[in-house]
Amino acid sequence: MRRVWSYRLKNKILPSIPSPISLFQLVYQSQATPPFAEAALEALLRKARIYNQAHHLTGMLLYVEGRFLQVIEGPEPALNHLYGLIQRDQLHMEVRTISYGPKPPALFPTGAWATQW
Ligand SMILES: Cc1cc2nc3c(=O)[nH]c(=O)nc-3n(C[C@H](O)[C@H](O)[C@H](O)COP(=O)(O)O)c2cc1C
Repeated sequence: MRRVWSYRLKNKILPSIPSPISLFQLVYQSQATPPFAEAALEALLRKARIYNQAHHLTGMLLYVEGRFLQVIEGPEPALNHLYGLIQRDQLHMEVRTISYGPKPPALFPTGAWATQW
């Protein structure tokens, strides 16, 4: 949610200025609850893409040999709410937070890029 404030200068009310949105970043890992079918993963991804886009959340989800590693970035209230849902999801267990806090500066700022093949 965008916080808006106005401020006073020489007794004049200046127009509201939208604050820069403070972005947070979450990294966690978990264990898929067996038996875990890939169809469940596809259904999850379909829903997650729509939800995340609607809430200005981005990131990535890795699924390797029954384990998840997810990075999610976005506005703190939306991120916090989604993490509550994710933690209660029966599809996985042993959800462990690796890091949670203000998003660190980009590793590859605009103009820089890396490739691997
Ligand atoms: C490993 C894992 C990652 C998930 N990541 C997301 C996500 O990024 N976005 C999302 O909306 N739901 C994600 N979910 C699903 C949520 O936990 C939850 O099921 C969903 O938000 C609520 O959907 P429902 O009310 O239809 O059950 C994830 C679930 C798991 C198990």
